[in-house]
Amino acid sequence: MECKDRQPFDIVRDILKVIEELNTLKDVDAILDKVLAEARDMTHADAGSIYLIEGENLSFSYVHNDTLFKGTEASKHIYTDFIVPINEKSIVGYVAMSGETLAIPDVYELVGDEPYSFNKKFDEETGYRTRSMLTIALKTFHGKIVGVMQLINATACDGTARPFTEYDIQYAPLFANSASVTIERGIMTRETMLRMMKMAEMRDPMETGAHVQRVGAYSAEIYQQWARNQGVDELTIRRKKDMLRLAAMLHDVGKVGISDAILKKPGRFNEQEAATMKWHSIYGAALFANTTSELDRLCKDVTLFHHERWDGKGYPGKLPGDLSQIRELCVECISGEDIPVSARITSLADVYDALISPRVYKSAWPEEQVLAEIINNRGTQFDPEVVDAFLEIQDTIRAIRRKYHG
Ligand SMILES: [Fe+2]
Ligand SMILES: [Fe+2]
Repeated sequence: MECKDRQPFDIVRDILKVIEELNTLKDVDAILDKVLAEARDMTHADAGSIYLIEGENLSFSYVHNDTLFKGTEASKHIYTDFIVPINEKSIVGYVAMSGETLAIPDVYELVGDEPYSFNKKFDEETGYRTRSMLTIALKTFHGKIVGVMQLINATACDGTARPFTEYDIQYAPLFANSASVTIERGIMTRETMLRMMKMAEMRDPMETGAHVQRVGAYSAEIYQQWARNQGVDELTIRRKKDMLRLAAMLHDVGKVGISDAILKKPGRFNEQEAATMKWHSIYGAALFANTTSELDRLCKDVTLFHHERWDGKGYPGKLPGDLSQIRELCVECISGEDIPVSARITSLADVYDALISPRVYKSAWPEEQVLAEIINNRGTQFDPEVVDAFLEIQDTIRAIRRKYHG
């Protein structure tokens, strides 16, 4: 974090530049990450969190803490799941209700006549000492509050704690207002994706909303670890992680093209039905064919190749019958690194979730057995390096499972 006080002109110019960058992001988690990083940079805050409004509550949605969360540790905290009711008893609840910006020099020294109080539970559990706090409503220009951002422990250039300055109190809400529009757009994109998935779920009750949320989150996190292991730069990682989450969520959307007689058949498929079912990969890819955006291309790769195997024995490459009509989708017998990495990752995430979750035809496998099965298939079904990255982030994987259960 650069440590110098900036002039108003520089601050406004920087805000505009960040808003432009925010507009290139699609997924709401990537947007929250960027908003929080920029707001912290602007105010020299050690930590911060964002809560989004969900009905009558605030849902804890994103967190940074430079002191506590380091390296691969950081990701699992993003998937912490808790909600705070919107009322004046908590600091975030109060700000969500009133829309006011609240700057507190030291939360341990609240005088006691405020309607809200500071909850010390997090500090007691972690040993962190929360001092200064700047809490801002995320309000769009139409006055709609989409959430609350809380910036914690402003730091002076010499590293000591300081209260938030007048500049911080004036400019951070200006940035928050502009960012709120982007956050609202991110929420809408996510909801549109979920609606597409709902459509698929209505057809195939096995593909639940929770399953797609999990597969999206697992894939994003495995990608981040895999890419770091490969030495990919952080900027590229952030952008691709963002898109992969969305693409992975849509992995089975092609099931809308499969008839009810097959999709909803109780019991086992015969050979013919199983082959028809495999066409969901091709129908999915057809939804994203002939498109120009990078996200659509990624969706095509994931839908088409998420059942390919590292050893080349997967599908649609090995589908029986006449594939000539779909040749433009490049359905060859592909294996190894010819399979796009997005699909190699989603394949592992999808299989892992299917094994570790209960399904109508099977109960959930114990975690140990699932991991043993994945390790057993390292280098045959799955890309070995993708398996390694997945095994390195098990804490995050478990946190995702806890967040999107059901
Ligand atoms: Fe599938
Ligand atoms: Fe799936």
